[in-house]
Amino acid sequence: MTTVVKRLRPSILRVLGIETSCDETGIAIYDSENDSVVQTLFSQIELHAPFGGVVPELASRDHIRKIIPLIRAALDKAGISPPSINGIAYTKGPGLMGALLVGATMAKTLGFALDIPTLGVHHLEAHLLAPFLSADKPQFPFLALLVSGGHTMLIEAKALGHYQILGDTLDDAAGEAFDKVAKLLGLPYPGGPALAKLATQGVPNRFHFPRPMINRPELNFSFSGLKTHTLGVFKKTHQDEKIKADIAHAFQEAVVDTLAIKCERALKKTGLKQLVVAGGVSANIRLREKLHSITKPLNTQLFFPPLDLCTDNGAMIAYAGYLRLSKGEHDPDLAIQTVARWPIDTLR
Ligand code: KG4
Ligand code: ZN
Repeated sequence: MTTVVKRLRPSILRVLGIETSCDETGIAIYDSENDSVVQTLFSQIELHAPFGGVVPELASRDHIRKIIPLIRAALDKAGISPPSINGIAYTKGPGLMGALLVGATMAKTLGFALDIPTLGVHHLEAHLLAPFLSADKPQFPFLALLVSGGHTMLIEAKALGHYQILGDTLDDAAGEAFDKVAKLLGLPYPGGPALAKLATQGVPNRFHFPRPMINRPELNFSFSGLKTHTLGVFKKTHQDEKIKADIAHAFQEAVVDTLAIKCERALKKTGLKQLVVAGGVSANIRLREKLHSITKPLNTQLFFPPLDLCTDNGAMIAYAGYLRLSKGEHDPDLAIQTVARWPIDTLR
């Protein structure tokens, strides 16, 4: 069968973004003419909460239920009809295979029906580019700290598609550690934001937890030992609400300090003068404060995504897709290809 995929029109203006890599159905329309974005989002938190984590099959089924109503709602919000879309970007990976397939199939089908190009986007590259949707935008090259539920990485972002990994997590990601410790303290899923909230009520210095790997020269991370240490300390206490808050405080301080120390080292090592922080944990206020305090003396500019674009969303996919589609990239055919694992440093 021959498939004809329409080449990108020279003046690509509006890109529809579709994110379905995990437990959020995120849809957005990025309008390059006025650098604006409208988005609709459905979070499956309540669906997965009883299981204490994401159930992949339930996630895929819910994406199927929500994707079309959310696309319609995004078009309504933008005040446009489908023919006003010039290109479609969707998350190709990494992520849950069944969930990714829902977004990719929708994108390819719509692209074929509307006769416009589609492009599969790398989820982590899209997180890294989310700060470009803030009023205060970074410029390549920059150092990026990517902190999400699945990743903790320090990346030298040289240009679009040119990423060198300087540090990675050897075990649990920062967000994952937040979620696991939150579960241990009896907080609802997903625990990261709940633990951060509880930490604000904790007494500083009641407990002091280790800062993992800071005595090692490399830029890698490891949060699994800190999680086990926290569990050990918690078990020896009365486990009342006051103690839970103090432990949440000490744990957050340890994670945030560790991330900040490694960022400081990476900035000194690379000589880069911009630090971009992205991924779900970049919403953490204490992390934002700490990074401000380390970047100021280094004369380094600090960039974050808008708060509502830290966790998974369609806007970052629409924007990453726009940057690549407008360079002439697009899917070569109608084959639906998604990838569960996709190292960011293999991108070009
Ligand atoms: O980027 P994201 O939405 O999904 C992945 O691609 O992993 O990140 C979700 C992660 C979860 O682990 C969540 O608990 C964490 O980000 N998170 C936070 C905060 N908000 C979200 N962790 C700490 N403090 C927060 N305020
Ligand atoms: Zn993500």
